[in-house]
Amino acid sequence: MSHPRPIETIRADFPALTRQHAGRPVAYFDGPGGTQVPDVVARRVADVMLHHNANAHWNYPTSRETDAILDHARATFASFFNGDPSEIAFGANFTSLAFHLARGLGRAWQAGDEVIVTELDHHGNVAPWQALADERGIVLRWWPMDVATGTLALDRLPDLLTPRTRLLAVGGASNALGTITDITAACATARAHGVLTFVDAVHLAPHQLMDAAAIGADVIGCSPYKFYGPHLGVLWGRRDLLASVDVPRLQPATNEPPERIHVGTPSFEAIAGAATAVEWLATVGGGGGTLRERLAGSYDVLAQREAVLFARLWDGLGGIPGVTRHGPPPGTPRTATVSVTVGDRPAAAVAGALADRAACFASHGDFYAMTTAERLGVRAQGLLRIGLAVYSTAEEVDRVLEALAAEVA
Ligand SMILES: Cc1ncc(COP(=O)(O)O)c(C=O)c1O
Repeated sequence: MSHPRPIETIRADFPALTRQHAGRPVAYFDGPGGTQVPDVVARRVADVMLHHNANAHWNYPTSRETDAILDHARATFASFFNGDPSEIAFGANFTSLAFHLARGLGRAWQAGDEVIVTELDHHGNVAPWQALADERGIVLRWWPMDVATGTLALDRLPDLLTPRTRLLAVGGASNALGTITDITAACATARAHGVLTFVDAVHLAPHQLMDAAAIGADVIGCSPYKFYGPHLGVLWGRRDLLASVDVPRLQPATNEPPERIHVGTPSFEAIAGAATAVEWLATVGGGGGTLRERLAGSYDVLAQREAVLFARLWDGLGGIPGVTRHGPPPGTPRTATVSVTVGDRPAAAVAGALADRAACFASHGDFYAMTTAERLGVRAQGLLRIGLAVYSTAEEVDRVLEALAAEVA
């Protein structure tokens, strides 16, 4: 029997929630750009830096402790992804890891080989493949998004696959619109054609528990700073791919996967803090069992809470004249992230007004989902993005709705 942690005790873990702005407690709607951090995570980062600071692989206590930090974090993220510790690699952020692996993979490809990218993706999963197009003559094929629904139609994928297709780069969820793409089906289609799959789960992982075994991708990457951890990138990759991809390496560095994927000395403190963030996330559901089981319970609770709050947000936005909601409605596969435009007002101005009027912190722009914003015709104006996180409340949702309504009145 699990007892989900009440929202008040969850919120009490986040010192940032005590911050005031314009005389009110800050409501953070900027989670899709980076979430707030529980104190236990920040304390872990400080603990590593203050008491266990060393480089890895040497024969004295602090260095052995650093090795243990890496081992523990790999095991933790193996549970998180439902993979094996030997399949977990760390990097500065998702984008760096994507550029790194793309460069390595591209070395085995010929001019005229093809990579499929999507119009719904953050350019962190476009630019690395675009670089191969510029540098090696790789041909990019674009999986178009349906502008009316903000989705990728699966039945468009088979037409894009040719005998020259080497890889499909696809996002699990749109960080601009919240749309969840059926990556399991997309990966199955690609795999049936012998095509590698590179999944950007940066926006999906905070909302849905990753399952590498079920998804069937070759690489899945995410960024723990989007789910209550420090700034870091983490990927799960098929072991034989991580063992063989021709990434740029220092000759004296280990050639053993997964460490051969690392470039230089990693941020051990961020890696330790990210593992603590996963462990913290596992407390949300209040259940027992293995880390993976506790995480599954937490994600269930998150999904239930987010669905209720998100419906309130979506419906409320729909009732404000002049506000246009972009992306799919509740009840369809989506995260609790919505972007809106407010008449023809620049999103930056609306974001500033929400902060000053009601201490609601929401992001604006294209969020590097540049092609999505272009296709929606809102790149110049920008989108205002409202994202819900584990600490979001109905009061905060009502507050941002009231502030928006007052702003357009
Ligand atoms: C969907 C998505 N992909 C990729 C990225 C880039 O991640 P990182 O900042 O870790 O490079 C982001 C960041 O916002 C994102 O939301």
